[in-house]
Amino acid sequence: MQLSEELLEIEQRLIPTGLHVFGRAAEQDEKADLLRMVASFDRPENGAHALPRLVAEAFGISTYDELQQEAPTTETRELIDSIVREAVGRFCAHGPEAAAGWLAQKAGVAAEKSLPTFLMLASIAEQTDSNTEMDSLVRALRGEYIRPGPGADIVQNPQILPTGRNTHAVNPYSVPSTVAFARAQVTAEALLKRFVSERGHYPLALALVLWGLDNIKTQGEGVAQALWLLGVRPVRDALNRATDVEVVPLQELQRPRIDVVMTVSGIFRDLFAPTMTLLDKAVRRVASLDEPDDWNYVRRNTAERMNESGAGFDDAVTRVFSNAPGNYGTNVNFMVMDSQWETEATLGELFVTRKSFAYTRDSKGHMVEGHEAPGLMNEALSQVEATYQNLDSFEVGITDVDHYFEYLGGISKAVELRTKSRPAIYVSDSLSPQTKIRSLEETVRLESRTKTLNPKWYEGMLEHGFRGVAEIENHVANTFGWSATTGAVEPWIYTDIAKTFLLDPAMFERLMELNPHSTRSLTKRLLEAHHRGYWNPDEEVLERLREIGGELAHEKKLEDTNTAFILSEF
Ligand code: BEZ
Ligand code: MG
Repeated sequence: MQLSEELLEIEQRLIPTGLHVFGRAAEQDEKADLLRMVASFDRPENGAHALPRLVAEAFGISTYDELQQEAPTTETRELIDSIVREAVGRFCAHGPEAAAGWLAQKAGVAAEKSLPTFLMLASIAEQTDSNTEMDSLVRALRGEYIRPGPGADIVQNPQILPTGRNTHAVNPYSVPSTVAFARAQVTAEALLKRFVSERGHYPLALALVLWGLDNIKTQGEGVAQALWLLGVRPVRDALNRATDVEVVPLQELQRPRIDVVMTVSGIFRDLFAPTMTLLDKAVRRVASLDEPDDWNYVRRNTAERMNESGAGFDDAVTRVFSNAPGNYGTNVNFMVMDSQWETEATLGELFVTRKSFAYTRDSKGHMVEGHEAPGLMNEALSQVEATYQNLDSFEVGITDVDHYFEYLGGISKAVELRTKSRPAIYVSDSLSPQTKIRSLEETVRLESRTKTLNPKWYEGMLEHGFRGVAEIENHVANTFGWSATTGAVEPWIYTDIAKTFLLDPAMFERLMELNPHSTRSLTKRLLEAHHRGYWNPDEEVLERLREIGGELAHEKKLEDTNTAFILSEF
């Protein structure tokens, strides 16, 4: 049962096949996958229903959502998905009316019910077929007007099409939107449910990573999750700006208020100043409520800090941290990439050094923006039992860029150092039709299987030649970043990476041909993974890697000598 569930999950994942080429429209197969994903969400703004829901309802299953949550492997669900796949295929080949007709005949979905969805797909397909990115670039270079468009990914918000527009963010005062708040409640409750099922109690405090782009795309789902965990709702003023919060009564919340420590990125800090004030206000409000400690962990933790370290209320209630004003990032990624670290503790400490600037108020009520406060951050982190970050896009996952491990990995290591125990680490997929909370280990496995180790993904990358190999190497380095910061990578993943890319002679040759630099880095990274104790391969595997490493080092030396020679000529 569990095995088939996992297989289904991998199969259903939208796998980006190759890089976007600026100015080029999506290919047919890619387009069908994308449209199927788009069609799996209700879009009330287009009067369009999710196709899986329509098919399920036609089969007399009224609660498709429940089917998703509770029994995702049932034959019924597979049948529904295969019908949807075929319907989208027919749409691509013959258009909206034909697809709606087929669905009526095959599954009994009235054509007038599915037609709005197919018409919406038709408009999306038309916009993905044409691509004016190059045109817009040229216009921009001429200093001409570029039409604005929202920033998000296509599945999340098809309104981003056509691409090639001037991307705009959101008004920070509108964050979180009503929809974001509704979705966040479901995600936050799923997060708590998962933690309780694993540890048997609610977490006393959670550390959340909040990013700017992520909250732009979701209109503030991350912000809303923090508010809901605390047990408050945003309140809008006469100008419809979310500038205050109201407390959700405990009878309604039905669980303790969870303490949250928020580390926000530099981009978030720059874009969402009013939101940071809102978050700080929410924590203060909750810490001041007259409620029992075992129902209000913010109050409990704040009081504990005031008692134990003699901190005043304003210090003990500080929960929003970021970089120093004008600074960005944790640098944990750079340190890992350069192999410039001795022990893992260095990485956790670097995170705190970079991110321990408090954004709060002082005892006189004055705003404090970026006051260096490692002591306050240490105290806040020492109460944390779980760390968490949203995945914000279908296209970018935790091994695609080094920023997820620098943030979520960095903070998890910082917590571990302070609490002397590894926190539970979670990642959400709040974008799937069914909200899913995964442990970091599960997410690393899923990403490795659907991307790094998946022929569909790496062959797509290899079509881009030099850059494609660099992407593969990036994924391996980012996977390694998770080992370094969290130990969440199972050794078989490194074994399979070695087998797929280096030990298979034909593949090795292809990589060397396309990009010997990245192939060399990949080999070195696997040897480093062994050296640092993340992976202990068979002696033959290791031998061969060393051999390849040696051969490559020799070639590199020749290359360097040639370069030195050439340079010396000048
Ligand atoms: C952000 O959106 O805040 C962000 C994006 C990339 C790296 C780090 C942060
Ligand atoms: Mg970057």
